Amino acid sequence: MAVEALEENPLRAGLRSRRKPDPSAIVVFGVTGDLTHRKLVPSLYRLYAEGLLPAGFAIVGVARRDWDDGQFRDTIRGALDEFLGDPVREEVWQGFAAGLRFCPGEFDDPETYRRLGEVLAKTSEERVHSGNRLYYLAVPPSVYAPIIDGLGGADLGRDGASHGWSRIVVEKPFGHDGASARLLNARLRRWFREDQIYRIDHYLGKETVQNILVFRLANGIFEPVWNRQYIDNVQITVAEDIGVESRGPYYEEAGAIRDMIQNHVLQLLALIAMEPPVAFDAVAVRDEKVKVFRSLHPLIGSDVDRSVVRGQYSTGLSHGEPVAGYQQEEGVAEGSLTETFVAMRVFLDTWRWAGVPFYLRTGKRMPKRVTEISLQFKQPPLLLFGRGMRGAPEPNVLAVQVQPDEGITLKFGSKVPGPTERVHPVHMDFRYGTSFGEKTSEAYERLILDCLIGDSTLFTRDDGVEAAWGFVDPIVARWYAVGTAPAPYEAGSWGPDAAEDLVDRDKREWRRL
Ligand code: NDP
Ligand code: BG6
Repeated sequence: MAVEALEENPLRAGLRSRRKPDPSAIVVFGVTGDLTHRKLVPSLYRLYAEGLLPAGFAIVGVARRDWDDGQFRDTIRGALDEFLGDPVREEVWQGFAAGLRFCPGEFDDPETYRRLGEVLAKTSEERVHSGNRLYYLAVPPSVYAPIIDGLGGADLGRDGASHGWSRIVVEKPFGHDGASARLLNARLRRWFREDQIYRIDHYLGKETVQNILVFRLANGIFEPVWNRQYIDNVQITVAEDIGVESRGPYYEEAGAIRDMIQNHVLQLLALIAMEPPVAFDAVAVRDEKVKVFRSLHPLIGSDVDRSVVRGQYSTGLSHGEPVAGYQQEEGVAEGSLTETFVAMRVFLDTWRWAGVPFYLRTGKRMPKRVTEISLQFKQPPLLLFGRGMRGAPEPNVLAVQVQPDEGITLKFGSKVPGPTERVHPVHMDFRYGTSFGEKTSEAYERLILDCLIGDSTLFTRDDGVEAAWGFVDPIVARWYAVGTAPAPYEAGSWGPDAAEDLVDRDKREWRRL
């Protein structure tokens, strides 16, 4: 598919065309963690390099380390060198580093927040001059509570014309289950209004994910067939080739169902399955997504055994190199029952989707990193071609590749040239790289910018998060009740055999990716 040539890369231009944020300080809790180093720091640097961070911005790191500002800067520089993907530009780094400040302290110690208040006041005098603050909780869910109460207790959540705004970004998974999510929402609301709270799911900041609604609703040809009459099944795969890396303790708390299914995978499902919103704004879009979560047909008791597969990677090969099994990873308990793979078949109780299976799977240590959503169409009512020995032609598939090679592919049957009626599958391809040039921006760049501007459309709302837990909780409850261990699968494979059986039983198969 060709698109008109555009003068400048529209993916970056999109970011640049957004309103410039007000001067503000960004306070990051968890500055020694994987998320901060791998995603937040490179995104903040890129925003700064493009002039998208407000002048006089400050980034204040809070952690239980006895560092000074200089040591903090060295750590951030190390993260950039490792994860930016491009060489760090010295002149940009100098300006960026000038805004970095550090505040040492334990998260459950009121003294930390008193000190943070002082650091913010001093930083505001030196640089920011606004009082605006964005608090970013880049920490495991188990430490959200002391941070929220610490900020609130020290009156750091105040928000008003005379002293600037304050907003708080909470990472996923939001809570550990429905009950803890409700408690967390209540705790947040004690100190912050709903419009100050940004529950982040970085998949919603990915270009291809944002394009799902544009693809569906800005084009006349897809939406009429986007329903049970034409679609046979939907598949969502979020596969990672990495293991749990240095994140054993966090992952032991979460497992794949809380780490990926409850948030990223269900968000992708919602965008595919939702009804068109009445407007493209934070209220209307999120209203429709919540309806999808509420329409998920509950999986309870023995339904879970039939419709959900959990697995855990054992030793194997990753891209030809031997790798450890999950139980040998640092910070993982021997005999751990935590799942690193989940596959499931779910149905939506809606007029649009009744009877259409949605097959979802996610796992670590799969053969490759790929996220794809595919819609497989029903066969035509009368098969005129390709009957006989070779069987029916392959069904049409519309595949949205979220990463790494972002694009959309339509598979359809074509006549093989020559004096035969043979039908062969061919592909019509749209690739972001080919059509728009440069690579897409990192999801976190867009989302951080949205927080600074105050646009919450791409963030999840309290009722949406709780509804998603409402679907996940009975599944986890069944696992605990039955107490069986996740099925082992070799690192570098597509998961346990039971995941194949799940679709095979329905006479379908997973897309080969
Ligand atoms: P890590 O385990 O790598 O980092 C956790 C951070 O929290 C560290 O800085 C750690 O500090 C700090 N921390 C943990 N416990 C405490 C405590 N009791 N007191 C003070 N500091 C503490 O986790 P991630 O960075 O990977 O994940 C953090 C959050 O981000 C999770 O909710 C995760 O779901 C989410 N996320 C992660 C992504 C990723 O790619 N990593 C992507 C999207 C979301 P210390 O060094 O002192 O232990
Ligand atoms: C995070 C999970 O939310 O998403 C990680 O906590 C996972 O376990 C990561 O690796 C995947 O993100 P991405 O953008 O690399 O697909």
